[in-house]
Amino acid sequence: MSGVGIVFLAGSPSSTSRSSYVAGIVEKHAADAGIPIRSFTIRDFDLADVFYGKADTPAQAAFVRAVVEASAIVLSTPVYKGTYAGGLKAIVDLIPPDALAGKAALGIATARLPAHGAGVDRGYRDLFAFFRSRVVDTLVVHDDELKITDGRGEIGDAAAERVAKAGRALVGVLGR
Ligand SMILES: Cc1cc2nc3c(=O)[nH]c(=O)nc-3n(C[C@H](O)[C@H](O)[C@H](O)COP(=O)(O)O)c2cc1C
Repeated sequence: MSGVGIVFLAGSPSSTSRSSYVAGIVEKHAADAGIPIRSFTIRDFDLADVFYGKADTPAQAAFVRAVVEASAIVLSTPVYKGTYAGGLKAIVDLIPPDALAGKAALGIATARLPAHGAGVDRGYRDLFAFFRSRVVDTLVVHDDELKITDGRGEIGDAAAERVAKAGRALVGVLGR
């Protein structure tokens, strides 16, 4: 596969982000399968520009161009107030409505409360349904399954298996 392949967008503002760590494992899985990756985080954008509709900045243009050219998108987020983070949604709102039609889409989230996995799953499914994407099952990892110390992550066996499964599913959808 040439070109962009998969665009990853990380929605956590944290420099020691759990959700970005999980997305990084999926990203490595895809890269190991030979899929070109383009990674963005909300920290790449000036959110004041995004919120106030100043849409012509280089960061926003580069992101939208990459999404339009890509075959898939992977969003990652901390769960905030029961669903994906507002900062992530502000960047997703830049994506043209037809830009993800028929493309693979995976949502990743980390949450403190396991009960809130269902809310973010619903949020992602509604979002990807709007874009008419081919949905890969949402990947949720709970905070007590993942420890991050000095930038190094330690993930429990069950969560590691779910992460690997999501990576395989994403690569599988892209191969079709
Ligand atoms: C403002 C805020 C709101 C949060 N709301 C929830 C929530 O509703 N449900 C939940 O399970 N965790 C909630 N959390 C916990 C985070 O989702 C969780 O710790 C996540 O793993 C953080 O991901 P990150 O390190 O990528 O930012 C919240 C955290 C913050 C800072």
